[in-house]
Amino acid sequence: MVKNTLVVALVAVVIVPATFTSCKKASGDYPGDSYTYDMNYSRAYETYALHPELPNHMSALMPVAHTVPYVGNAVAGTKGDSLSMALNLPYTIPNTPEGYLLAATANKNPFTIQDKEAVETGKHFFDIYCAICHGKAGDGKGVIVTSGKYTAAPPSYFDPVYMAMTEGTMFHSVSYGRNAMQPYAYALNKQERWKVITYIKKLQADYAAAQAATAQTAPETAATAEAK
Ligand code: HEC
Repeated sequence: MVKNTLVVALVAVVIVPATFTSCKKASGDYPGDSYTYDMNYSRAYETYALHPELPNHMSALMPVAHTVPYVGNAVAGTKGDSLSMALNLPYTIPNTPEGYLLAATANKNPFTIQDKEAVETGKHFFDIYCAICHGKAGDGKGVIVTSGKYTAAPPSYFDPVYMAMTEGTMFHSVSYGRNAMQPYAYALNKQERWKVITYIKKLQADYAAAQAATAQTAPETAATAEAK
């Protein structure tokens, strides 16, 4: 009985006050004492700091392979439109001879040459990535060709084969590369590739219109010449 009373007294007089007083309150620059500091505050790595245990020792990691970006507003919980969502999904037609044939009809360009923004953005990227070989006009006379530095001259987009080529085929070739041409999926996302192709189609349409115009005026000129 006496022993129990002593224990209670010890707890009440020594241990309880000791427990409370050992935790000094935070004030000013002093964050306060914490018994389980490592559990309360996890030690985060700086984004670009070295990390001894990760591949390449980089704290900042790339998203997991095949990660698809969220389209829409995650905070508001709203979804993006279906076109933006489709454009963010990976391109799945395989890089095979069968895939090349399938691409001609299976791929559909979501943009048209009437879409001014698509044509302008397409031109922007075309001039950066493609004009060096294909030429600004698309005639295959880019600077590295005319300078004689590059022997695998690209075709003119105005050759009948390319005039007839579907946008789906073009998309496939630009995504995976074609013979001497390297793939461009590393630099241009799906939306940008489609816009570049929209621009090529615009160049072709302008060329076809110019051809039609000369074909119309040519007989007239002949007729006028005859009349003279
Ligand atoms: C280094 C030079 C070079 C660059 C840069 C280049 N191309 Fe090409 N491209 C070629 C050559 C060469 C061919 C002909 C390939 C073949 O059929 O042998 C070609 C072919 C093509 C074709 C026809 C593909 C087919 O299926 O026959 C398209 C479409 C095309 N290029 C678009 C582009 C676009 C768009 C870009 C820029 C994003 C681009 N190219 C950048 C050299 C280039």
